[in-house]
Amino acid sequence: MTFLFKSDAKRGAIFREVLARELPDLPFAIDPAKIDAAAVRYMIAWLVPPDLAVYRNLEILFSIGAGIDQFNAASVPAGVKIVRMVEDGIVRMMQEYVTLAVLTLHRNWPAYVDQQRQQLWRAVPQPQARERRIGVLGLGMLGQAVLERLEPFGFPLFGWSRSPRTIDGVTTHHGADGLDRLLETTDILICLLPLTDETRGLLNAELFAKLPRGAALVQTGRGPQLDQAALLATLDSGHLAGAVLDVTDPEPLPAEHPLWRHPRVLITPHVASVTQPESAALAVAENIKRHRAGLDPVGLVDRSRGY
Ligand code: NDP
Ligand code: OXD
Repeated sequence: MTFLFKSDAKRGAIFREVLARELPDLPFAIDPAKIDAAAVRYMIAWLVPPDLAVYRNLEILFSIGAGIDQFNAASVPAGVKIVRMVEDGIVRMMQEYVTLAVLTLHRNWPAYVDQQRQQLWRAVPQPQARERRIGVLGLGMLGQAVLERLEPFGFPLFGWSRSPRTIDGVTTHHGADGLDRLLETTDILICLLPLTDETRGLLNAELFAKLPRGAALVQTGRGPQLDQAALLATLDSGHLAGAVLDVTDPEPLPAEHPLWRHPRVLITPHVASVTQPESAALAVAENIKRHRAGLDPVGLVDRSRGY
């Protein structure tokens, strides 16, 4: 019975140390050439390895990240559990990033950066937080954590999910009708949805048109959820005031792409959250213990939903 780590060696060293402490009976490997593939029961990776079939006794494939859309789930045998990363480091970083993005948009930071370049000393009209409505798409681990962190600022909070969710202090909606209701009352829209057949291309011209004029977007989900041409057109028409994008399609965004130079777009290179190896290794060890005890791992992917 072996744990196979398929990612960078630096994080691998931390995983090795934590798993040796938490699960001393579980052999740990980084180099597949040095082990018997049939002994591998657990594997962690970002992508499904092309030779997955050789690991014929694999029980759990862990994603090193919170998303699993980069896995081609169809290539993973039905009996293998796919588990996404649920760990505190990812949550804390996403809370920081989205709070930064929301405050940047709320306090008109891009306009002041622009004014500084022109040596212009001029106040931009400033709505109060209670007048700026925040709508979060996706009320899972990250959407809920972000809402919790934004709550003390006093923004009216709204959220949308697939199934009904009740969250203190948040007006929640679900399903297709619910999305329209959320959009009507959203000044800053945050996308924290997984990439699935239903969410691919969701952030499109039709959706932007349902937002109030002057709304802004924070895209921290996955690049293919956003129609980038529609975003540019909606920014240029003045209907949307700005966007903060942590994910694009493709990644990296090609140098000549007009989004790079748009004055009301801020881009970061998919860094909103990064898996923290210490806490991630502990989460994986905990999940292996759960699995051995006959319990479902935390973050078990429902293949029929795609997340
Ligand atoms: P979860 O699985 O915990 O939550 C997903 C949420 O999205 C759930 O509330 C779910 O609804 C909702 N949802 C899914 N499909 C739909 C749909 N068709 N319509 C409405 N709601 C839907 O995911 P996480 O919160 O852990 O992560 C979300 C995503 O964030 C990841 O999949 C990844 O793509 C992205 N991410 C980005 C990072 C970055 O650095 N930019 C880092 C980490 C993650 P329901 O509650 O009904 O199930
Ligand atoms: C993740 C990511 O899914 O980095 O963790 O986007």
